[in-house]
Amino acid sequence: MIAPSILSADFAHLGGAAEAVARADWLHVDVMDNHFVPNLTIGLPVVKSLHRATDLPLDCHLMIENPDRWAPGYAEAGAANVTFHAEAAADVAQTARAIRAAGALAGLSVKPGTPLEPYLELLSGFDTLLVMSVEPGFGGQKFMPEVLDKVRLARRHVRSGHLRLFIEIDGGIGADTIEQAAEAGVDVFVAGSAVYDAADPAAAVESLRALARAGMARCAAGSAP
Ligand code: DX5
Ligand code: ZN
Repeated sequence: MIAPSILSADFAHLGGAAEAVARADWLHVDVMDNHFVPNLTIGLPVVKSLHRATDLPLDCHLMIENPDRWAPGYAEAGAANVTFHAEAAADVAQTARAIRAAGALAGLSVKPGTPLEPYLELLSGFDTLLVMSVEPGFGGQKFMPEVLDKVRLARRHVRSGHLRLFIEIDGGIGADTIEQAAEAGVDVFVAGSAVYDAADPAAAVESLRALARAGMARCAAGSAP
């Protein structure tokens, strides 16, 4: 699945930005609080408005402190998937339960330097694992290929545990990097600048999708939950 990130879109025309990628799978919405990350973006009111403005499932990526308190509200606001950061949560499993109880898929995200091992056994309580392939906070950064080891580990864990889990990657995904991510076992590809800096965002989504399919075909461990 391809999830264009509106972080790279024109914030004065978010409805149009969603429309421009109507054939994408999810619309990725980066919520930043200027505490967990240095940047500040959007919050609940904008998510509520976007939900009314588009049929695309909203994939909310919360880069905020205290997600235990705030994450379920994004599910209530209409997000299809609500992902929060392992580094910020006090009770990872309980927050996932609260998101699901509010009607959304629950996602766990790890920064590039955060190991996955401590969270492996908790993944059965999640629907999505978001592996960050840049330091969270800004679009347009360079892809960090070393995080693909975590993708491979998660893919093996999913297979051996028969889990239903989307493995998602976020940061620096574009025509030059998406195939290696797909080959490692990614299911959902976030792309901000590669979609919205393109002259034709819809065409960019389709060409990323084709490249991801090619990489996925070479994924030894198998993909898609
Ligand atoms: C960064 C955000 C990403 C960002 C990716 O912290 O989480 O979703 O939009 O942007 P690109 O695809 O340009 O690296
Ligand atoms: Zn993101």
